[in-house]
Amino acid sequence: MVLSITEAEGYVASLAELLMDAVDSGASIGFMPPLEPAEAAAYWRTVFDAMRAGERELIAVVEGGVVIGAVQLMCEGRANGRHRAEAGKLFVHRRARRRGLARALLAELERVAANRGITLLLMDTRKGGEAEKLCDSLGYTRWGEVPEYARSTNGELHTTVFYYRCLVNTNVPKQ
Ligand SMILES: CC(C)(COP(=O)(O)OP(=O)(O)OC[C@H]1O[C@@H](n2cnc3c(N)ncnc32)[C@H](O)[C@@H]1OP(=O)(O)O)[C@@H](O)C(=O)NCCC(=O)NCCS
Repeated sequence: MVLSITEAEGYVASLAELLMDAVDSGASIGFMPPLEPAEAAAYWRTVFDAMRAGERELIAVVEGGVVIGAVQLMCEGRANGRHRAEAGKLFVHRRARRRGLARALLAELERVAANRGITLLLMDTRKGGEAEKLCDSLGYTRWGEVPEYARSTNGELHTTVFYYRCLVNTNVPKQ
């Protein structure tokens, strides 16, 4: 489901728990462990600000009142790039993985993106991680790799793989 700002704010503790679980699992998502609850909650408040500014959509799977998976549509604000967006901060709680939730989250994100007139989606992930297998399995186009791009939670620099997907949107003129 696409969360409204009010809904997202109500789930802030659950979202923070989800983020900490992803970092604990070794995911390369911009944070180094240990991630404290206050730091995780502060991150989500920056997301809520971006949502308020109309630059971000938060898509989540909620089960039993708890967020067990989430992804963000990060829209480009610059005038020449408003047709593109990044699919980022995709994580599914360890206890809910391999149930197809990430696939469902990305399908919903693509629907939301197309509704906003976005025709180009970008995504990147650590080479060798689960998300690389996910992007390959979904048929995203792999356009390159950059060595030593980001630091893993174990402190080592790792290669990042870059992907894109063109979305079909007949409502938007190409020029
Ligand atoms: C990557 C991640 C989001 C996948 O979530 P998920 O809900 O388990 O993924 P799904 O169940 O939808 O998997 C869809 C497909 O992706 C591939 N895949 C996902 N996880 C995989 C794994 N551990 N090993 C091999 N293939 C995997 C498979 O092709 C899978 O299809 P299948 O189950 O029919 O074989 C999850 O592992 C995660 O949160 N990882 C940590 C955070 C992270 O790395 N995020 C990416 C940053 S961009």
